[in-house]
Amino acid sequence: MVPAPVRPLPPAFGPEGRPSVVGHRGASGAAPENTLAAFEAAWRAGADAIEFDLHLTADGVAVVIHDSTVDATTDGSGEVGQLTYAAVRALDAGSWFSPAFAGQPVPRLEEILRFAVSRPELGILVEYKGEWTTAQVAVTARAVDAAGVGDRTVAQSFSPGTLEALREVAPHLPRGLLVDDDRPEAVGLAAELGVLTVNPSSAAVRADRTLVERLHDDGRRVMAWTENEPTAWADLVEAGVDGIITDRPEHLRGWLADSGRRVAPGGTSA
Ligand code: G3P
Ligand code: CA
Repeated sequence: MVPAPVRPLPPAFGPEGRPSVVGHRGASGAAPENTLAAFEAAWRAGADAIEFDLHLTADGVAVVIHDSTVDATTDGSGEVGQLTYAAVRALDAGSWFSPAFAGQPVPRLEEILRFAVSRPELGILVEYKGEWTTAQVAVTARAVDAAGVGDRTVAQSFSPGTLEALREVAPHLPRGLLVDDDRPEAVGLAAELGVLTVNPSSAAVRADRTLVERLHDDGRRVMAWTENEPTAWADLVEAGVDGIITDRPEHLRGWLADSGRRVAPGGTSA
């Protein structure tokens, strides 16, 4: 079988020849996840791209938070989808991590887009949590387009329905299918959905050494999540992933530079 051509990641995700360094929820090992402080830390660490999570508030505002409740990462409680944006915005999303970050708010999508606009080299990996309708994703896609960052954004989700909705309302936006360890049908599903990337767990890549190759042969890029350890980074590089999503972008950048120095141009260890 002739392999399908593999479309490139948006150039902002970094040069070919090494995996893209993607700061998971920002640099969430160094600052409270999914806050502007974490995204700033990721950018300063030299991450190629930032990853973040979206939920909708009760009044339909897309906010940047991982869980469906605010309990774990703010001083409040309750379902994001049951709270107004004003109520979510009043919460402290930094103190749980360290008093040094007291007062960091839960950002809304538009703030992250503005942050990226002033850092034109930064890639954006936005994850839609849960199930989104076409009307709901349309609002977010318009925000991405209005900010002028559609050419450096990848929209990812575990939900095939949400990815279909994105394809319908924003066919120009590259999309990524997230898969965990229980999705052996990823190659076929990715083809049906027409996604640019398949983003499997690091464990899935390390457990199935042919997964990346099979996805590449089918024309997909692969970004693995969420890996923080050099031993595992080495496995992912060997498997040929196109990106590594990590809480420690500062360490991954250094580790990649260092492993590059130790590999001679012919690919052998110096
Ligand atoms: O980017 C992939 C990764 O973020 C998916 O897992 O739970 O951290 O959103 P989670
Ligand atoms: Ca995520």
